[in-house]
Amino acid sequence: MQIRLGIVGFGFMGHCDADMIATFPDEEIKLAAVADIVPSQMEDAPEGVETYNSIEEMLEKADINTVMISTPNPSHLEMVEKAAAAGKHIICEKPAAMSVSQFDRMVEVTKKAGVLFTIHQQRRFDPDYNVMKSVYDQGLVGKPYVIKSQLYGFNGNMHDWHVFPEMGGGMLYDWGVHLIDQILNMVDAPLVSLYADLRNIINRDVDDYFNILMKFGNDITAEIELGTYYLTPKRGWFLGGDKGSAYIDGWDCEGKIVRTTRLLTNVPGKITMTAAGPTRSFGPAAPGLLTEEELPSVNVSHRNYFEHFIKAFNGEEELFVKPHQVRRVLCVMDAVRESARTGEAIKLEV
Ligand SMILES: NC(=O)c1ccc[n+]([C@@H]2O[C@H](COP(=O)([O-])OP(=O)(O)OC[C@H]3O[C@@H](n4cnc5c(N)ncnc54)[C@H](O)[C@@H]3O)[C@@H](O)[C@H]2O)c1
Repeated sequence: MQIRLGIVGFGFMGHCDADMIATFPDEEIKLAAVADIVPSQMEDAPEGVETYNSIEEMLEKADINTVMISTPNPSHLEMVEKAAAAGKHIICEKPAAMSVSQFDRMVEVTKKAGVLFTIHQQRRFDPDYNVMKSVYDQGLVGKPYVIKSQLYGFNGNMHDWHVFPEMGGGMLYDWGVHLIDQILNMVDAPLVSLYADLRNIINRDVDDYFNILMKFGNDITAEIELGTYYLTPKRGWFLGGDKGSAYIDGWDCEGKIVRTTRLLTNVPGKITMTAAGPTRSFGPAAPGLLTEEELPSVNVSHRNYFEHFIKAFNGEEELFVKPHQVRRVLCVMDAVRESARTGEAIKLEV
């Protein structure tokens, strides 16, 4: 059956979503309408796509069965309530909601209406993440004990609504959703505790730096660090296990799996003189002690998100991003804020 989509909120992400939908055959998914309270936003709406000045008008008049919500964060609950009441299936932009309780209300209304409800957490299809997930899933470094996900940028001055707390601004609500979602979907164990630092480094009212230490029930520690004002841009991953290490440096998945040819316990304690003095553990490795292997390759893209939604819409599979997984991310974000406020580690069971 054809998905006839209406996008509400035709700003930056509404346009990105429309461009992505246009890559699919019309018989699978077709953008039929867009709605925005600022008419000029829709001046470049694709030919043949109807335009409306409100979600109410679109829900009443457009021939659509699914709504994609791309309006600012605080309006998501209201949009979900209206679309569900009209019996439309729903894809909502992240962050799904401003709080766990708002999200619970969304789940309640969409369940009652019997419609599909999912969130656009499409960075589960980022190539770098999937390379690391593949290393993890295949046990390529043995039993993992640490995962690091690092995102450093140079644009500390965030823009538009991103600088207003009441609009759901700040980096935790923004990239935080994706980075937390990735880790929760990699590690196959409950999250049992968390410690976080959340700061406004150069933004007055919203967070622009965070460091989250997550301890999982299988004894893996994951660290997510994001800094918009690092001035040393980087997308990095590190996965340490008892049979090797894997790293990625950069969006293009540059990296390697590294192993030792001999266990370090069998290496004589050779003293290396460094600029900082002698060391027996942290000098350069002796020739031949380390070997490198290629990382697995993956074939993923954000288009996969919609491919899965089309299948779920047609009853061929479950939703790829499930409401209980989204709720877990929101619970972690609450715990991050609490830990940063109290300076304490937070016990969790999610
Ligand atoms: N999935 C992702 O990777 C990703 C990336 C960027 C943004 N987003 C999310 O997309 C959403 C929109 O962000 P953006 O950067 O596109 O914002 P934006 O400001 O560029 O666009 C928002 C649009 O919504 C319209 N709007 C506001 N209130 C409305 C209402 N009541 N009814 C109809 N239209 C309304 C605005 O006029 C504007 O055109 C946010 O929730 C954001 O977090 C997701």
